[in-house]
Amino acid sequence: MDEKLLLGQVLTFMDDPFARGWQAASRHSTRGGIVLRDGRIAATGEADALRRAHPRAQVTDYGEALILPGFVDAHMHYPQTGIIASWGKRLIDWLNSYTFPEEMRFGEASYARTQADLTLDLALAHGTTTLASFCTIHSESVTAFFEAAEARGMGVVAGKTCMDRNAPEGLRDTPRSAFDDSKALIETWHGRGRAAYAITPRFSPTSTPDQLAALGALWAEHPDCLMQTHLSEQTDEIAWVRGLFPQARDYLETYERHGLLGERGLYGHAIHLEPREIDRLAEVGAAVVHCPTSNTFIGSGLFDMAGMKARGIPVGLATDTGGGSSFSMLRTMAAAYEIGQLRGTPLHPAQLLWLATEGSARALHMGGQIGTLAPGAHADLCVLDLASTPAIAQRSDRAEDIWEALFPTIMMGDDRAVRDVWVSGASRRG
Ligand code: GUN
Ligand code: ZN
Repeated sequence: MDEKLLLGQVLTFMDDPFARGWQAASRHSTRGGIVLRDGRIAATGEADALRRAHPRAQVTDYGEALILPGFVDAHMHYPQTGIIASWGKRLIDWLNSYTFPEEMRFGEASYARTQADLTLDLALAHGTTTLASFCTIHSESVTAFFEAAEARGMGVVAGKTCMDRNAPEGLRDTPRSAFDDSKALIETWHGRGRAAYAITPRFSPTSTPDQLAALGALWAEHPDCLMQTHLSEQTDEIAWVRGLFPQARDYLETYERHGLLGERGLYGHAIHLEPREIDRLAEVGAAVVHCPTSNTFIGSGLFDMAGMKARGIPVGLATDTGGGSSFSMLRTMAAAYEIGQLRGTPLHPAQLLWLATEGSARALHMGGQIGTLAPGAHADLCVLDLASTPAIAQRSDRAEDIWEALFPTIMMGDDRAVRDVWVSGASRRG
């Protein structure tokens, strides 16, 4: 039997640390281990006991490094990798100036594949093992992303980004072609290996009511697919939506009226919500995705994490690259912490880590499969060096518990902290 045993510090969650408090929700072992078999986690426990129970397992000892589930980035745009960190614009100008010209290039399959390979390698280097990505209107861009993920054994979510208005010539489809192309991609990719399809209207301003209705009908035909879009990111955008959809009471209703509100819906940003929108999200069990580096970079606003969690709304965490300014989920956790501080509700490191792993996994309806070290989950792991730079090391040296040891890496860490990453039971560092 081909078994691998990884040794190091291990942190596991038994529950949501927003719901139960982090002490009760988590377990830390200073000398723990994980057994991997057939691409899955077979056991998690104390190192000595696992060594005795699995004497023939091939051992990798990470010493004091911390073994965690791989990070799960619940909302990003791989076609925007090339324009990350573009200066000086707010959302609508940023889309028109930087994003749309770059997305135009993805009709060429070889360019799409180059950018998909680049993005997935950057993600892995930062410890991210699953991403939910928007693609472009081109089917080629979706194929390229799923093929690049399949070549790496990664489980990803992706979908063709549909737009039939308020976008330049060359980046517009139609209600019919959005339906047909998305359907063909679902038939090819959804459930193939570790691939999952998300029906993807970009956001209400770039889809006519007819296109939203066509995609709502497609979701009704394929209810096991996810649906990802944007919601209430900037106030100018919300005013624009109000003008485009005068009959809708609020932004969420532009989706709801067209069959695009559901439990498997993922609504990125969700910053400036009306009470009715919060009520409806809570009632249907839909997830929102917090994109903190994007929200500060594009100047969107301060997401209300405490408010969402208090209503029981599932929340994922995401980079939103290239509106987000970092590929790192560590940097993303740091930005979530900072936004919490600005709202007077600081997040505990346990809550930040949970959001970046199990929280995002649950938002993607992949709880138990990814974002966890529980037996049966895919063996997607991230091994963190908690002393990766002199600045971090001198702080973590003084730590009195694992949370104090981890927090400097959350706040100051980057890809240098990622000692190793495992995907489907194989180390990407060799
Ligand atoms: N809203 C519609 N499209 C986008 C996008 O590409 N990035 C961000 N941050 N917001 C959007
Ligand atoms: Zn986005």
